Amino acid sequence: MKTSMYFGIFGGQYVPETLVPALDELETAYLGTLDDASFNGELLALLQNYSGRPTPLWFAPRITESLGGAKVYLKREDLNHTGAHKINNALGQVLLASKMGKKRIIAETGAGQHGVAVATAAALFGLECVVYMGEEDVHRQAPNVARMHLLGTKVVSVLSGTRTLKDAVNEAIRDWVTNVEDSFYVIGSVMGPHPYPPMGIFHAFIGDPGVALVGVEAAGRGVDTGLHAATISGGKPGVLHGSYSYVLFDEDGQIQPAHSISAGLDYPGVGPEHSHLAATGRATYVSVTDDEAVEAFHRTCRLEGIIPALESSHALAHVYRTAAALPKETIVLVNLSGRGDKDMDTILSL
Ligand SMILES: Cc1ncc(COP(=O)(O)O)c(C=O)c1O
Repeated sequence: MKTSMYFGIFGGQYVPETLVPALDELETAYLGTLDDASFNGELLALLQNYSGRPTPLWFAPRITESLGGAKVYLKREDLNHTGAHKINNALGQVLLASKMGKKRIIAETGAGQHGVAVATAAALFGLECVVYMGEEDVHRQAPNVARMHLLGTKVVSVLSGTRTLKDAVNEAIRDWVTNVEDSFYVIGSVMGPHPYPPMGIFHAFIGDPGVALVGVEAAGRGVDTGLHAATISGGKPGVLHGSYSYVLFDEDGQIQPAHSISAGLDYPGVGPEHSHLAATGRATYVSVTDDEAVEAFHRTCRLEGIIPALESSHALAHVYRTAAALPKETIVLVNLSGRGDKDMDTILSL
């Protein structure tokens, strides 16, 4: 049985005809794994023994004390092998690719965390791997480019457009259309055409009305400056990279270039499930500027002894501005999606 392609009105498969058989093949293979005890046992063992899951839930004593309001907990996804939540998805997709008999892995990356995770999984499974990365990101996330090279992956520097994540996705899709027979495209976020990855940390809580869900977008230099990546706050529904979702458009209806200090958030779209959660009011989306994220980065280093990724620093910034006003018995859980080693150059050059 096929699963629904849509979250409300969002999602779908807006792809060239040549890719439809590949998406069908992927969905059939994916559905086949759901009740496959051997596949699930293998994935669980990889997640536990290779990646180090389940990652701990850390009560952040000094952050909590400094705010004097809600209790703040951090989901320590930064402690995963390769330093971010991206490895969960990469291991699952590369395991599936190997079961499907694919010989070649394609991925795109912004911050390089997804690229490193896929390069890692491809090395583990002995598969060829090519990662597309915008030239600007190749520079600002240089340590991750070096890691991918060490892992035996070819990193292709993308020179089109803003030379960031959107352009890397364009090139990865172009490669996939050309090499669809033997290649598997490991998409790095909750985006792309159905059946690509569904929701991350929100997933377990969507059905629990007692839990408020808050997504934090990158406001870059400010949503009213036009230099931002706050897609839900500043965009409207449209099609980008295979699905119908909130997208940033300029006044001519073209995709508006995004801006964020954080390479992993520097993208003019957002996944369809987020769009649906926003449109139905189940989740609230707020935004945080580059400056606020950098301040939260430093504050977390000094208060908690944890160097967070710039992406995760956006979520932390929202906690710093809101948790003081919440009752002491409220629990705030922040997905600390990754560690900040990759961002040292960016931070030190400010
Ligand atoms: C550490 C970290 N957090 C978050 C993200 C954003 O991706 P997603 O929205 O898929 O979690 C990235 C993307 O590269 C990342 O590296």
